[in-house]
Amino acid sequence: MNRKMTFVAILALAGLALAPVARAAEMSEKEKALANPYPNDFGPETLPDDVIKSYPANVQAGYKKLISNKNGCAQCHSSARPLNSRFVEPEGGIDDAKQDAWIAAQKKAQPEIFTDSSIWTVETKVWSRYVKRMMNKPGCNLQKADGKSIYEFLSYDSVKRKTGANAAKWAEHRKSLINTLKEKNPKRYAELKESKDL
Ligand code: HEC
Repeated sequence: MNRKMTFVAILALAGLALAPVARAAEMSEKEKALANPYPNDFGPETLPDDVIKSYPANVQAGYKKLISNKNGCAQCHSSARPLNSRFVEPEGGIDDAKQDAWIAAQKKAQPEIFTDSSIWTVETKVWSRYVKRMMNKPGCNLQKADGKSIYEFLSYDSVKRKTGANAAKWAEHRKSLINTLKEKNPKRYAELKESKDL
């Protein structure tokens, strides 16, 4: 190879190496969200009416905001992503110590919910952190009050629908979503497992 050709080849290689970086920077949050699916995304985008009707009024209001694709959590990915998430925020309101105490009590009362974090990720303030993280993304239309209301839904619903009497049903549901991701997108499944996001 003469020098000019070598130079051209090096430029081409450099271009190839840099292209994905440039593309990632240009990608909107919505494109990012859709390019990287979660098992959650294969589940339903709404909850059954009887479940919602059994919740307190403020929690129902948060649910309605969450599923809105205009100002809710379905602007970038579908509402299936939060609704089928492994995250469980402990009872105890916004009080860290009370939430920690709930975790300590449940480790005795229902140890199974601490056995597999791909099904139950039980963490103090986990939904509080995630709602803030989503609200900080460029292009997010959520207002502060909507975020608070959605958070109230997510924390209440995560304990009700994923633990206690509903724990076994939830485990079955989450396992089937993980298997679907594994079947349909083995590369993404491996990636999430590797980064301990599954
Ligand atoms: C502006 C776009 C945007 C909006 C609006 C948005 N999300 Fe996301 N969401 C993303 C992106 C991008 C990812 C993947 C990367 C990440 O976790 O930051 C994601 C990932 C997630 C995940 C998966 C996290 C995991 O590790 O399992 C959950 C759960 C989630 N979002 C919940 C929500 C909730 C709840 C709302 C509404 C309060 C919301 N999102 C609104 C862009 C958005």
